Amino acid sequence: MYEVREVDIDDDAILSDWSRVVDDVMRHDVPNQPPWRHEELRGYHRLPWRTRAVAFFAAFSAGEMVGVANTRCSLVDTPHLLNFELRVHPDHRRRRVGTALLEKVIASARDLGRSTLLVEAESPAHGGGPDVDPGGGFAAHHGFKPALVNHHRVLRLPLTADLIDGLTRPDDDYEIVSWRDHLPEEWIEDRARLAARMVTDSPMGDLEITEENWDMDRFRELEDMVAAIDRQVWGVGAVLAGRLVAASELTVPNLVRWDADQWDTIVDPDHRGHGLGTRIKLANIAALMAGRPDVERIWTYNAAANTPMIRVNDTLGFEIGGTLTEWQRTRV
Ligand SMILES: CC(C)(COP(=O)(O)OP(=O)(O)OC[C@H]1O[C@@H](n2cnc3c(N)ncnc32)[C@H](O)[C@@H]1OP(=O)(O)O)[C@@H](O)C(=O)NCCC(=O)NCCS
Repeated sequence: MYEVREVDIDDDAILSDWSRVVDDVMRHDVPNQPPWRHEELRGYHRLPWRTRAVAFFAAFSAGEMVGVANTRCSLVDTPHLLNFELRVHPDHRRRRVGTALLEKVIASARDLGRSTLLVEAESPAHGGGPDVDPGGGFAAHHGFKPALVNHHRVLRLPLTADLIDGLTRPDDDYEIVSWRDHLPEEWIEDRARLAARMVTDSPMGDLEITEENWDMDRFRELEDMVAAIDRQVWGVGAVLAGRLVAASELTVPNLVRWDADQWDTIVDPDHRGHGLGTRIKLANIAALMAGRPDVERIWTYNAAANTPMIRVNDTLGFEIGGTLTEWQRTRV
């Protein structure tokens, strides 16, 4: 009744069906969040990645696409790991479609010699009922363990002038710098060092993740991806004695009114405790409010155990908008 097979995401008909399934699933499961737009999925999935290998599987019922799964393996670090996403259309659930897609993902992991599977399952902050966390029920059924719990937080713009003024602390030697789309080459080495620390310094729960390798090529690839999904990178950093010691980036959609996403925020351990995390985030938000007054919300994820980052976000006024659990299965 259901056929599951690998699909070619470069095929326009496949991509358009894929977008429809993702859109229907997101509107059903996380209605408070902006769903991925077709253009974003096209840019993201069709990027000629240099640092990762990707694959796409879909489930069909009488020729209609009813479920999707895509896999991602880093080619530059974490050689044991395979990340995947899996979604089944709400009208076709509890009929083993998800299980059939997962079997393809597992077979692919085995072929690639990847022993740890990682998948994210998201539920909205409010609401109830038996289907509030279908991903969690499904993952637990298939032997996954909840390795890290994150909260999805949302900040409604604009911030008040009082909040911005009250948080600005210019009385030290840190210089606040900013960039758009491309990180200036002079900061790449420092930014790569900070990026590698994102994994080692933020709480990772039981996740089997090892230090990541970042270099200029990988940054440029990420920037290519942001451009391909029709977004801009808005970056802010703190510089002391010629070194970039803190960085924070937002991705902001081009042209259309849509929500922005907070990406990394990290402060070098030697420079923590000076309010830099709050200051660089705030500088970026203030620039966004001035340059893009159409953006109404910023979304971010934080590990539930990441007290310092949550404190910064509470200060800025972020509120919890959902829970995202990372489910892990080892020895696949
Ligand atoms: C999670 C999801 C992919 C499951 O797809 P599905 O085709 O309904 O899954 P299956 O029919 O193969 O379910 C297999 C088993 O998983 C468990 N399961 C599935 N959905 C569940 C739910 N809503 N609550 C509790 N357990 C659930 C059950 O044990 C089920 O077996 P049963 O129906 O005999 O009780 C689908 O609900 C979905 O797309 N959710 C939104 C996206 C998402 O969360 N993705 C992350 C996946 S980890």
